[in-house]
Amino acid sequence: MDLTLAHRPQSTVYSPKGQVDILPATRVFVRRCSLTFLVPHQRASLPIRSLLVGLTLIVMAISAPRMAAQKVDLSIDASKPGAKIDRNLFGQFAEHLGHGIYDGIWVGSDSTIPNTRGIRNDVVVALKAIHVPNVRWPGGCFADEYHWRDGIGPQRVVRLNPNWGGVIEPNTFGTHEFMDFIDQIGSEAYVSVNMGSGTPHEASDWLEYMTAAQATTLEKERAANGHPAPYKVALLGLGNESWDCGGNMTAEYYLDRMKSFSHFVRNYNPAQMEKDQMLKIAVGPGGGEQRWTDWTETVMKAYQQHTWSWDINGLSMHSYTVVKWPPAFKSVGFGEDEYAQILKTTLDMDDLIKKHSAIMDKYDPDKKVALFVDEWGGWYAPLPGSNPGFLVQQNSMRDAVLAALNINIFARHADRVRGANIAQMINVLQAMILTDHEKMVLTPTYYIYKMYVPFQDSTFVSVTFDAGSYKHSDFTLPRVDAMAAKSKDGKLWVEITNVDPHQAAEVELTVTGINAKSAVGETLTAPKVDSVNTFEAPNIVVPKPISARAQGGKLILQLEPKSVTVVSVEQ
Ligand code: AHR
Repeated sequence: MDLTLAHRPQSTVYSPKGQVDILPATRVFVRRCSLTFLVPHQRASLPIRSLLVGLTLIVMAISAPRMAAQKVDLSIDASKPGAKIDRNLFGQFAEHLGHGIYDGIWVGSDSTIPNTRGIRNDVVVALKAIHVPNVRWPGGCFADEYHWRDGIGPQRVVRLNPNWGGVIEPNTFGTHEFMDFIDQIGSEAYVSVNMGSGTPHEASDWLEYMTAAQATTLEKERAANGHPAPYKVALLGLGNESWDCGGNMTAEYYLDRMKSFSHFVRNYNPAQMEKDQMLKIAVGPGGGEQRWTDWTETVMKAYQQHTWSWDINGLSMHSYTVVKWPPAFKSVGFGEDEYAQILKTTLDMDDLIKKHSAIMDKYDPDKKVALFVDEWGGWYAPLPGSNPGFLVQQNSMRDAVLAALNINIFARHADRVRGANIAQMINVLQAMILTDHEKMVLTPTYYIYKMYVPFQDSTFVSVTFDAGSYKHSDFTLPRVDAMAAKSKDGKLWVEITNVDPHQAAEVELTVTGINAKSAVGETLTAPKVDSVNTFEAPNIVVPKPISARAQGGKLILQLEPKSVTVVSVEQ
């Protein structure tokens, strides 16, 4: 991404059609009728008025242009399990950017906002509920200018954050605060080391500081700073976007540097020697053009020849849904054009994964190296009045659908895609949570992550269905999407997304391999495609219960337009 552009104030682009209220045709009709009818009959007597109202309702019921629910046959063979859907597909990303860390996570222990050792309690409670498997930190572009010593000990080094608005970076949130945070939310650390402006020496010292159990000088320093036990570092990012903000390197130059970081940056935690070994994630592509396929080729070809002295376990890929650069689509107050176009664009994720997986397959047919889509999500114009360097945007029903479509794509490629981190967790881009001082609101995307919890570490089960199509303007998309998996406790879970903003879907679910008697779960929908939750109205887009009725050996589910539904199949 050209981040210099991201820093410039964006002009807000309004759709030429303005905001489209996507009410079902029947509701529009009712509105019109009631307006023209009620005025004259207000003067009529009560019985006549009642009669007229009754007659009107009958006429409306007969003549209203109802849109029949689209029938969808969905078959699941529960006896044919596929790849494991790694819980790391549900990873998060927290960068020192805008209010992602400061105010979003960290308020300081003397804040009036309830906190535990400086970390806000409301945010911790919300994140615990979505079982965040890992948090990628401290960046992003920030990581390649981060010096870990600035953020430890009693005296923090105050710097600027040149990537993101040029604001003061107080470094009050450093290694110990991050580790405390992930401990409080029950997650794991995905630490990106500075390969841009840093050295292998600096990064290897950081890992020794975090993970050493023996009495080295760095281990003692960590203990003196309050944490005698070694920290667990589950994932290690070897740079970030090294082809751009991470140092503008060629693939060959990156590879040479990455090999020495891979060798020297060691994890010493005794608990991670055999099992739970730290996974090293190399920088990978940022798109589908030839410069990106060349990058994947270079790294993977080298991997095929790698020796004992360096290794990688993953290749990162970054892909935002942005349509055009700089991001100009509005995150709220948009209409169906922008709904259809953004969702059409987000589906490109599938081809991108296929393209890079094919290259990886050439050099790594056993799929030892995972593809980690460790930055993805919708990237829109900054909210008017916000600091453009803070990447503040709202989060709508469209984002909920976008998240579900992408997670399903990742799950269908679960044999290769074993990690994904949505950007970003709080207050930045496609966030789970928005905060404003003491206020907090959960976004539609948050609820998708909550509903998908049973899919973490589940086993993929293939689903057959005719997706049909939803057409709007120049855009044609599959009308429905679906995914199924068996959770760790053996239960079958089904997800179905109805992309169509107008038409309901009636799903007839046939399950072979188990005796399916019913299905229960939750569905997320909203009045409009751009409906959002706000601090004032936090419950506009929240899940509600849904259940299927059994009929003729099938389970029938009625899905509302623009909805995401997750149910468990009961035997
Ligand atoms: O998520 C915002 C930025 O997007 C990250 O810092 C960078 O890696 C990417 O370009």
